[in-house]
Amino acid sequence: MRPLDDAEFDRWVRLLEARTGVIVPPERKPFLETGLRRRMRETGHTRFDIYYDELVSGARGAMEWASLVDHLTVHETHFFRHLPSIELIRDEWLPQWLETAAPDASLQALSLGCSTGEEAYSLALVLDAELSRATPPHRFGVTATDVSQAALTLARHAEYPMRRLSEIPAAYRNGVHAQPDGETFRIDERLRKRVGFACVNLLHASRAPLRKLDIIYCQNVLIYFARERRGQMLDALAGLLQPGGLLVLGPGEVSGWSRPDMRRTGSRQTLAYISDTKETRA
Ligand SMILES: C[S@@+](CC[C@H](N)C(=O)[O-])C[C@H]1O[C@@H](n2cnc3c(N)ncnc32)[C@H](O)[C@@H]1O
Repeated sequence: MRPLDDAEFDRWVRLLEARTGVIVPPERKPFLETGLRRRMRETGHTRFDIYYDELVSGARGAMEWASLVDHLTVHETHFFRHLPSIELIRDEWLPQWLETAAPDASLQALSLGCSTGEEAYSLALVLDAELSRATPPHRFGVTATDVSQAALTLARHAEYPMRRLSEIPAAYRNGVHAQPDGETFRIDERLRKRVGFACVNLLHASRAPLRKLDIIYCQNVLIYFARERRGQMLDALAGLLQPGGLLVLGPGEVSGWSRPDMRRTGSRQTLAYISDTKETRA
């Protein structure tokens, strides 16, 4: 197969950005080309232009896109990837939520761009520990979304290599179980049931049938988006929050975004905003 030339590279970059928001700068051309080649080998294609034309036409093209997108996106993730953000939720925001929550309130969290599930399960481990010992105890649910079906399949299965166990603080490890082969561990079934995964494109998140959310956790996703688009995405996410709800981003992921109804919170180690509390929570 001949190399991807610059004009073709531009065409693929435009397609990926239009469909996912993700931009691939010229220095990451090898990443895009490797991903394309890997998928084209699987489908038996040998020419980038023919593959492109098939991809942008008809229902078969749409199905193929669902497979290709997994090869063109970065899925690196960890449990408790950014501890200060988790601590902000646990130690600062959650105690306030508990003070004002109705006795039967169920906390709803969203993990956007959840990759293979580690972020969503980290939230579930913490929320379960904190909310089950609150008086009264509260229920919770985590909805986790990604554009990659392959990542979501792994996320739903919730089984990870044993070497990853050290990413989970010891205090939360009772929410996971070593598998009989001793090589992997799995998230406890009770917690798995609290986490629902769905294939949602962040570009269309405001149209997804989501109930109003208490926490939106979106780290290491917008960083791949064009700067102009990041602000639009955040405006859409702000509209999904309950009054008093918390939006948690990765530190440094956006700069210069502000809205009158969103107040910056947390320390300099975190990037988070609380939605205006004018309404009373149900
Ligand atoms: C680097 S991972 C971040 C995973 C996790 N949030 C974390 O911080 O560890 C980025 C994820 O964003 C997903 N993604 C990229 N563009 C997306 C889009 N438009 N809609 C939804 N997910 C997207 C990718 O598939 C990938 O799984």
